Amino acid sequence: MIGDIVGRPGRVMVREHLPRLKKEHGIDFVTANYENASHGFGLTPKNAEELFGSGIDMMTGGNHSFDKKEIVPLLDSLPLLRPHNYPEAMPGSGVGVYETSAGELGVVNVMGHYGMPMVDNPFTCALKAVEDLKAQGVHRIVIDFHAEASSEKRAMLMMLRGEVGAIVGTHTHVATDDLQVDGGTGYIGDIGLSGCRDNVIGMDAKIPLQRFLTGMPGHFDVPKKCKKVLQLVIFELGGDGRCVSAKKVRVFDDGREWVGEGWIEA
Ligand code: FE2
Repeated sequence: MIGDIVGRPGRVMVREHLPRLKKEHGIDFVTANYENASHGFGLTPKNAEELFGSGIDMMTGGNHSFDKKEIVPLLDSLPLLRPHNYPEAMPGSGVGVYETSAGELGVVNVMGHYGMPMVDNPFTCALKAVEDLKAQGVHRIVIDFHAEASSEKRAMLMMLRGEVGAIVGTHTHVATDDLQVDGGTGYIGDIGLSGCRDNVIGMDAKIPLQRFLTGMPGHFDVPKKCKKVLQLVIFELGGDGRCVSAKKVRVFDDGREWVGEGWIEA
């Protein structure tokens, strides 16, 4: 699972490293979050094609899912989700079932409440989505919880521990140091961005700094040149859908590569 891919630097890192990492780590299926993939805001059809062509199998969204309106028809024709707890009138869905070389995988995408647009309750929404998937016979399930607050993400883990294979956080762009497997559920508070690792959450630091110094708003921009990173977490799910191991991989564009194991809680 890859977190927020931010602009061209993120797409370049995916294209240059994901095919090799899939082979090296024996990865069957790749999810990623697309909501910042096209110049930091939303997803264009061209960039969707590029990312699926780089080895990503399906993508989840968030509060920027609809920033590029061209995505609307793609939600029915490509393996793309948007948060399931958007009002029902929104196009697309937040639950998908995908064929993998290891069997069916259910993916649920929900969005938190803190600092986010007004959406339905993510907790009751996720509970119902997991129940429905299980009723359909889908037992391998992972969740992208696109949320700001770490407390919301921990509460989601407490609610669904042992019920789903993995819960990952996205949206903050900053990776957390809490990768673990708890009661058969893999978890990380935020995978962290793939894109520029310098500047401010993948965006050119100029406008955020101006905003903090003066209050003057401005349009965030993805830098043309920056130091890049690709970050992903790899969960191994057993036949019963329970997670048995977790690791984090971080690739820097200067050739450095870091792999860390998540800890296991009984
Ligand atoms: Fe977001």
